[in-house]
Amino acid sequence: MIYRSFQCYVYLLMKKPKTQRTEFTRKRYNTVSTIYDLVEWPVEQIWYKKWRRELWQQIHGPKVLEIGVGTGKNISHYPGNVELTGIDLSPGMLKRAKKILPESMNDSVTLREMDAQQMDFPDGTFDQVVATFVFCSVPDPVIGLQEAHRVTKPGGKLHLLEHMRAEQPFLAGLMEALDVPIHYVTGVHIARQTVANVEKAGWQIEQVKELTAKGIFKKIEAIKSY
Ligand SMILES: C[S@@+](CC[C@H](N)C(=O)[O-])C[C@H]1O[C@@H](n2cnc3c(N)ncnc32)[C@H](O)[C@@H]1O
Repeated sequence: MIYRSFQCYVYLLMKKPKTQRTEFTRKRYNTVSTIYDLVEWPVEQIWYKKWRRELWQQIHGPKVLEIGVGTGKNISHYPGNVELTGIDLSPGMLKRAKKILPESMNDSVTLREMDAQQMDFPDGTFDQVVATFVFCSVPDPVIGLQEAHRVTKPGGKLHLLEHMRAEQPFLAGLMEALDVPIHYVTGVHIARQTVANVEKAGWQIEQVKELTAKGIFKKIEAIKSY
């Protein structure tokens, strides 16, 4: 009964215009921003830290966009000699990232509040776009990925770490069923098909690396070929 009510609520939420769904996500992340680092600590130590390190070793810019900087967990991995712009929808998350940004990076890193679905950068601004665990939360992921494509230079690249719907049918079904309550509480979708979304947005996939069993965590590299 309670679960059904949850489902109805989120179904109605999904039917709402993108602006309202975006506002819901912004509020959820503002709320979780105070406990985000604590909750993520175990997975950060076991998995995320080493995946971030590997991803950022591929980033040479010179102009780099990070979408969904969150509380700034990638900041310690930012390479030198790049001009980096980081954006996030949630002022609560961004405030934490700004707090830990070292003064020595003030000239090379700019952090701004902005919606990935509607960025105010001109076409073809960046050489590389990075996002880690973000397109599970962007209300319309294909629009966000299309925007990322628009602001990337032709020949530029997209680098993602993402969790998504498992490939194994039983687990995929379970994730679909749990997607609703989890989204309601955290703002995250656990059953997105992010590799397909990247392709739908016009990117050409270059590499998909499985990071865990069952196809849940992946590192995705794609190129803007036109
Ligand atoms: C799961 S957190 C990941 C944060 C960080 N990238 C990390 O690796 O820890 C997702 C982040 O995406 C941001 N986000 C969600 N929708 C967004 C949007 N439409 N535009 C920009 N940021 C968005 C959220 O505010 C949140 O900070």
